[in-house]
Amino acid sequence: MRAHLFYAGDNVRGLAILKRQGLLVDLVYIDPPFATGNDFLISEKRANSISGNGALAYSDRRKGKEYLDSLHHQLRAIKEVMSPTGSIYVHIGLAVEHHVRLLLDDVFGAGNFRNSITRIKCNPKNFARNSYGNIRDTILFYSNSPKEITWNPQRESLTTEDIERLYPLLDEQGRRYTTTPLHAPGVTQNGETGKAWRGMAPPEGRHWRYRPEKLEALDEQGLIAWSSTGNPRLIKYADQAKGKLPQDVWEYKDPQNPLYPTQKNAEMLKRIILTSSNPGDTVLDCFAGSGETLLVAHEHGRYFVGMDISSAAQEVIRQRLADLQVEWVEGNENFRLRISRATGQSKEFAGCRTGSTQSVAET
Ligand SMILES: C[S@@+](CC[C@H](N)C(=O)[O-])C[C@H]1O[C@@H](n2cnc3c(N)ncnc32)[C@H](O)[C@@H]1O
Repeated sequence: MRAHLFYAGDNVRGLAILKRQGLLVDLVYIDPPFATGNDFLISEKRANSISGNGALAYSDRRKGKEYLDSLHHQLRAIKEVMSPTGSIYVHIGLAVEHHVRLLLDDVFGAGNFRNSITRIKCNPKNFARNSYGNIRDTILFYSNSPKEITWNPQRESLTTEDIERLYPLLDEQGRRYTTTPLHAPGVTQNGETGKAWRGMAPPEGRHWRYRPEKLEALDEQGLIAWSSTGNPRLIKYADQAKGKLPQDVWEYKDPQNPLYPTQKNAEMLKRIILTSSNPGDTVLDCFAGSGETLLVAHEHGRYFVGMDISSAAQEVIRQRLADLQVEWVEGNENFRLRISRATGQSKEFAGCRTGSTQSVAET
């Protein structure tokens, strides 16, 4: 029986355990510290402060070479446990994003770069600084191989504004529609689409989008609008639109009252998980923080492997995962690993037991 896995400790050690056991993950989302130079605090009242009272949630004081060397090492360890069709999304801040992209080029290959996604993270700010307000950060998306990746794009529904702009016409029943040309660029050498239809040749340098029988069928169904000069155009109704394919600018603001500092937006994680994994796949977040990625993965039928070194994060995660069946591995140096060795089944977590969150010590 499979369960989710959480490693409470340093992720390089946790990833080495996954590798030894031959466990592979299908999707990685990480949101490592951004080299901000701050300590992030957590208290009973607030979990998003870098000043005032509170216990240390995590320290983000590493900078420059020390920061980049450490992340480089972690990225290499992550690649070792990724399936060939896997993808990785690295959420990163402006101060280091250009360096981190070079690290990712090095580890995954520049040819496996897919997107640099701009994420709008908050409302516009009114700071009196001699620079523009910063309302964005970046998600760098790479695949593990140039060929096949898991890809299930999640279309967005059209807003009322989109519908009014894209479908400006109303038919007799009050249905919104637009019309588009029935011909496309390029000349068909010998095919039917290059010939005249109802005595009308396609315009110079273009061909009909459909063969004559399909054009006839569209006209019979009332899906062709004829202009006063006899020019046919295809009718497209707003209520049949499939929605918009996502682009590389996303607006997902983070929660106002997080459970843990820098907790990320659940809808954003849902988009990543649904797009880049399939039900039953395994999602890794080895900088898990609040555990939001883990919960969203679980809600959508994926297995998760979570890791975090911070005892404050571990406490938040332990509470949030209390009702789930999780193999909990203590990475504390005083503990000893007791997960049994590889089962030969790359996706089975060896030694999983039934019941809710359980502790396993490290050897
Ligand atoms: C920016 S926070 C992640 C927030 C998370 N994405 C969320 O939605 O709540 C970064 C996390 O990485 C953890 N971390 C930093 N270095 C680590 C390491 N070497 N091993 C495991 N976790 C680490 C920190 O403890 C912190 O919780």
